[in-house]
Amino acid sequence: MQKITIKKILKKKGKLPIVCLTAYTRNVAKIADKYCDIILVGDSLGMVLYGMKTTRGVKIETMILHAKAVKDASKKSLVVFDMPYKTYSNKFSAYKNAKMVIKLTKCDAIKLEGGKKIAKIVNFLVKKGIPVLGHVGLLPQTSRNFKARGKSSIERKKIFKDAIAISKSGAFAIIIECVVEGLAKEITENILIPTIGIGASRYCDGQILVTEDLTGLSDFSPKFVKQYANLNKSIEKSIKNYVKDVKMKRFPFTKNVYK
Ligand code: KIV
Repeated sequence: MQKITIKKILKKKGKLPIVCLTAYTRNVAKIADKYCDIILVGDSLGMVLYGMKTTRGVKIETMILHAKAVKDASKKSLVVFDMPYKTYSNKFSAYKNAKMVIKLTKCDAIKLEGGKKIAKIVNFLVKKGIPVLGHVGLLPQTSRNFKARGKSSIERKKIFKDAIAISKSGAFAIIIECVVEGLAKEITENILIPTIGIGASRYCDGQILVTEDLTGLSDFSPKFVKQYANLNKSIEKSIKNYVKDVKMKRFPFTKNVYK
């Protein structure tokens, strides 16, 4: 099994789709690792696993615990650590936190949300040897709503400039979240690094989704998610059958008993 490197990710731009998913746990990471180029330990875990209203309350310590489990179970994919809100407010705190995170989790890269405003921070980290995945468009850590971005020409220009700034700052790829198709295409065609879309059309160089959304484990089903399974239903069915068996004294069966 050959390890995916940043060099390999860069080579795929415009040629082969880059496949990415989120993972927060060892069990999901083990499966995703077989098929994905990049696994993101996303701070979306605050909402998906812990029921928070936004990702702003996610602590770096929580992310570290999940990232350790994911990295340990991933032998092939590039594992990216999503830096939580307020852990990269300036270049010094960003470097201190990113260095600690990489040391403790052994993740291959970090992800930061933002455009022009954080380009200098990205550049500082890259120069210090920390690979950075950018994230433009809808920025969950600071957004007030989850509507698609880039519908007005002012917003479109701003997001385009953000993507250019992040690509020039040395990030190895950029996530583009929830933007109109034309803008995702324009960004992808005008920067040298790969774009990875989430709700940003097939024109991106790769795609990412939250695994709990595509497997039907979360309650989140926006337009841009294709649901490939209904794990919620499967788990409920298993639990109902177990409860029935216990109540009717059918479980444990003979084969489940030690003699
Ligand atoms: O936190 C996350 O899972 C993300 C993805 C949705 C890109 O940032």
